[in-house]
Amino acid sequence: MNKNLPHEIPVALDIGIAEIDSQHRQLQALLERLKQSTDKCYGFAADAILAELVVQTRIHFAVEESLMRLLSFPDAEAHVEEHRKLTDQLEKLRKKAQDFEVADGLTSFIQTWLVDHVNNFDREFVGHFLDKGIDPHASPVTRKPPA
Ligand SMILES: [Fe+2]
Ligand SMILES: [Fe+2]
Repeated sequence: MNKNLPHEIPVALDIGIAEIDSQHRQLQALLERLKQSTDKCYGFAADAILAELVVQTRIHFAVEESLMRLLSFPDAEAHVEEHRKLTDQLEKLRKKAQDFEVADGLTSFIQTWLVDHVNNFDREFVGHFLDKGIDPHASPVTRKPPA
C-alpha cells in the first residue's frame, strides 16, 4: 500500500464536518504532491505547488474564521492567531526554499503543522458548531445551486 496516496492518509484529519474535511483533504493532497516533487531540490514545479498550497490554506483559514465569527465560537481569537502564525511560517518557509533551492524539512514541517493544527485547534470547534446547528454533511459537492 502506498502511504503517499492522498485518499489514504487524510482520514486521520477528519473532524466530522464535510466541508472542512474536504478542504483538509485538499491541503493534504497538495502536500502529497509537494512531497513527490521535492526530493533534495526545490524547483519550479515544487514552488508552483507550494504557492497553490499557500492560497488554499488562506482560503481554508478564511472559511473557518468566518464560521467561528458567525457561530460565536468563544475561542476564535486564539484560533485566528494560530492561523496567522501558520500562514506567516508557510510564507517564510517558501521564501527560504526559493533562496536556497532546498526543501530541507519543508514537507515534514507542513505535515506536522497540518496534523497538529487540526487535532489541537480545529477539533475544538466541532462540538460548538454542531450545537449551533451546522449541517455536518453539507459540502460544496452536495449543496444545491441557488434557484
Ligand atoms: Fe483552523
Ligand atoms: Fe482547518
